[in-house]
Parts: sequence; structure tokens; C-alpha cells
Amino acid sequence: QVLKEGSDLDFMEQQLMERLPVKQVKVVPGDEDASPQEVKSLLGKEAANLLIASYHGDSVVTVTGGSTMAAVADYLQPVDDVKPLFVPARGGLGDLHEYQANSICVKMASQTDGEYRLLYVPDSIGEELHAKMQEEPTIVEVLQLMKQADIVIHGIGDAETMAKRRKTAAETMNKINEHQAVGESFGYYFDKNGKTVHRVNSIGLAMDDLKERSRIITVAGGRSKCEAISAYLKWGESDVLVIDEVIARHLLKEY
Ligand code: BG6
Repeated sequence: QVLKEGSDLDFMEQQLMERLPVKQVKVVPGDEDASPQEVKSLLGKEAANLLIASYHGDSVVTVTGGSTMAAVADYLQPVDDVKPLFVPARGGLGDLHEYQANSICVKMASQTDGEYRLLYVPDSIGEELHAKMQEEPTIVEVLQLMKQADIVIHGIGDAETMAKRRKTAAETMNKINEHQAVGESFGYYFDKNGKTVHRVNSIGLAMDDLKERSRIITVAGGRSKCEAISAYLKWGESDVLVIDEVIARHLLKEY
């Protein structure tokens, strides 16, 4: 049974808002793992509407990659007199091209008649190069914009799925498994207690930068991400949670 009575979902939203450290919760019916296209579209549509409602004048929006963010981009529309600027939250993290934050920014800007900046940074670069690249003027400009952004919108992944999708080296894979990472977001892998166990060495938004953001919109769905989302709420910050029913039920049991 995919479609639920609206009131059922409204009740879950109310309960979650009371129990979780977030300002707003939107629950869409179903389980993304069971009906991927359908539920991802519902999540994308709700999150796009919430993002549009958060814009003002010349908003700067920081965006992560992922198929969920790509679905959000599908539903964005232009708003009169609002020209958002989309900035990727991180450099390349080894994702498929269409799921990279850079590509999502381009798509979001084109859907909204807005603008974008890109971050050209290779994946998992060495420490020395990492430090040097952070001094490059074009990178400094994007980093500043990213940190000034009034809105952050992001996905969350199951740790193992993300590590495999990024073709993570065996050594790092072992570290992620040994330390029992359950979730991933912004290139950080964390365990069920919200402790960081690994961070991809790519340039972008750091966890501490999140604390100062005025609006963080978190979007994720599917049974396989239940633990990841629970853990994210201990690891990171979120103001608006857009989730599917299977995750909502899991959170209601946990919190
Ligand atoms: C990645 C983001 O691109 O997508 C991650 O960098 C996020 O932070 C992940 O966890 C989620 O992917 P998806 O496809 O499940 O939305």
C-alpha cells in the first residue's frame, strides 16, 4: 500500500517535529527502495517547493550531489525577481557525472533562471595539493560563497552504498567497515552514534560550517537509509527534513 491517507502522514509530521531537533518535517508516502522512481519524484517535488519558499532576493544555495538532489532539480521553477546562485557543497567526490554537485548546480540554475559557480577539484587529493588548492583565487571565491550561503540543501547516503558508488579504495573501505559507518553526507562517513569515522579529502563545506547556516534542508528516502538518517541527526544539523514514510516510521521508533 503506497498511498496513505494525508492525515496519517500529517500526524507523523507533527510527532516528528515534536521529537526531533528540526523546525519542519515533510513526509511523502511509500518507501523509495520499493518504488524508486515514484517516491524519489515525490521527495524531489516537496523539497523543491520548500526550497523555492526559502528563497529571497539574491539567495545563495549550497547543494550536494546525488540522485535525490537531481530529483529536486527536476521540480525547481523560476520565481519572479529571484535569481538564486547555486554553489556546490564539495568538489568531485567520485560520483557519476549526473550526480555530482557541480552538475546538480548547473541543472538547478537552468531550471530557476538562476546562476551557478563550479568547484573543479579532483577527488581525494593528497594533503599538500589539498592545502595549495585552497589558496587558488577561483576556489577561494567559491569557498567564500559556499560559506555565506543562506540555504544548504543536501542528501544522505547509506555508508556502504556511497563507498561502493565512489569506488573507494580497499584500505578506506576497510576503515569505513571496521568503524561501522552507517551514513554519509558532505563527504563525511559517520557511525550510528553520529561520530565521524572518515572524511573524503575533497574541498568544500566542513561540518562546522553547517552550524552557522540559517536553513539546512535534508532530503532522503528508502528503507536502506533509515540508519543513515537517524545517525545524521546525531552527527549534523537540519532545519527541514523531507523524508519518506518508511524513514518517518523508523525515526518515530528511535526518537
Ligand atoms: C552524494 C552526496 O553525491 O549523494 C552525498 O555528496 C549524499 O553527501 C549522496 O549522501 C546521496 O545520494 P543519493 O543518490 O542517494 O541521493
